[in-house]
Amino acid sequence: MDMEFSRAGPSDLATIAAFDEQAGDPGRRTWLEDSLRRREVHLLSVDGAACAYGVLEDFFGHAFVSLLYVAPARRRQGLGAGLLAHLCGVAATPKVFSSTNLSNAPMHALFARQGWTVSGLLTHLDDGDPEVVYVRVPR
Ligand SMILES: CC(C)(COP(=O)(O)OP(=O)(O)OC[C@H]1O[C@@H](n2cnc3c(N)ncnc32)[C@H](O)[C@@H]1OP(=O)(O)O)[C@@H](O)C(=O)NCCC(=O)NCCS
Repeated sequence: MDMEFSRAGPSDLATIAAFDEQAGDPGRRTWLEDSLRRREVHLLSVDGAACAYGVLEDFFGHAFVSLLYVAPARRRQGLGAGLLAHLCGVAATPKVFSSTNLSNAPMHALFARQGWTVSGLLTHLDDGDPEVVYVRVPR
């Protein structure tokens, strides 16, 4: 499996929309367009086909992974883990933060697997499903 990482730009919108099931959602679309414009999106291609992306932005002066997304057909093949490790490698700060809903069991498992620790809990974002904030502190 040949994994290739690249920094995405506005011209990659259609490529991402082709595998992101939520790209049709207007809120997601606008956020993605803004993130692409700010050059915060990192694309993962496998054997030449784009199938995952991650967004790396600023959070109180630290790097923050605000989204990790793997095409449904490509999940449980190590791509999310590879992309998250790549984002930590290119992050501009040693400490990297991220977050996910309390209900997102796959993402909690991935954070645990890669040695992330819980930093805090944010309530009142999504009703009834708090946001768990994680941090990866370099050893
Ligand atoms: C969460 C997500 C990024 C994981 O990507 P992935 O490529 O499937 O993850 P990987 O194959 O790299 O998994 C690495 C490890 O994470 C854990 N994991 C991942 N998915 C899991 C699942 N569905 N159930 C349990 N553990 C899971 C496992 O420990 C796994 O290792 P293993 O397969 O050897 O057991 C993917 O499910 C996804 O895109 N979900 C939708 C978007 C989302 O919710 N993003 C997170 C919020 S920012």
